[in-house]
Amino acid sequence: MQSERRMARFDLYERTVHWLAALSYLYAALTGLALWSHKLYWLAWVFGGGVTVRGLHPWGGTIFAVVLAVMFRKWAGQMKLDTDDREWLRKAHKYAVHEEEGVPESGRFNAGQKMLFWSQALATVLLFATGLVLWWPEVMPRTLRLAAVLIHPLAAIGSIGGIIIHIYMGTAAVPGALRSMVQGWVTPSWAASHHRKWYRESSER
Ligand code: HEM
Repeated sequence: MQSERRMARFDLYERTVHWLAALSYLYAALTGLALWSHKLYWLAWVFGGGVTVRGLHPWGGTIFAVVLAVMFRKWAGQMKLDTDDREWLRKAHKYAVHEEEGVPESGRFNAGQKMLFWSQALATVLLFATGLVLWWPEVMPRTLRLAAVLIHPLAAIGSIGGIIIHIYMGTAAVPGALRSMVQGWVTPSWAASHHRKWYRESSER
């Protein structure tokens, strides 16, 4: 049997940072949901009870914010939108229904992935800043506390919506993507069909 050719996609550092972000995110998001709504309070029991969850949720959020800052440092330079990306976003509805004609080729990350990156970075800044206010309400002015009570759950809901789409895209919708984040490699045909510009540039090197 001919062995499958491989193209390196994510190195060990990128994969480690990504999965630390995913783990700390899931912890912060699920414990946050438990504190947010009494209908979701059962989640608190999964994570050790109400008192534990109230004490550890801010620490989970802090760990996530630190890991995301590391991810930001690694990937921000590669996430800038170019003219092809802007065109890609205008034609994203075609990409969504697999009608790829006229949709510009993607580099290492497509414009949808770049938007996920920037929106999660913004949500994390909002969540962390407002989270600090809610962590020490007694030393915060009233207006800041009111703003935090409103913005923290809104940023969380927006972020969770984006991550649900991200998990769907990374697992069910794009076969082969999960392996790239677990084992680090993709096949050349996967690269050519999902990130053709990156495939061409990598093959020319
Ligand atoms: C918890 C479950 C998660 C799963 C199953 C998952 C899966 C994946 C996969 C498969 C990729 C590679 C996509 C590709 O090569 O095309 C990826 C990339 C990425 N992930 Fe995740 N991820 C998860 C959570 C997160 C979280 C919590 C964040 C940050 C808030 C995050 C941020 C990113 C970013 C920025 C990329 C690179 C751009 C992209 O592919 O969208 N991921 N993820």
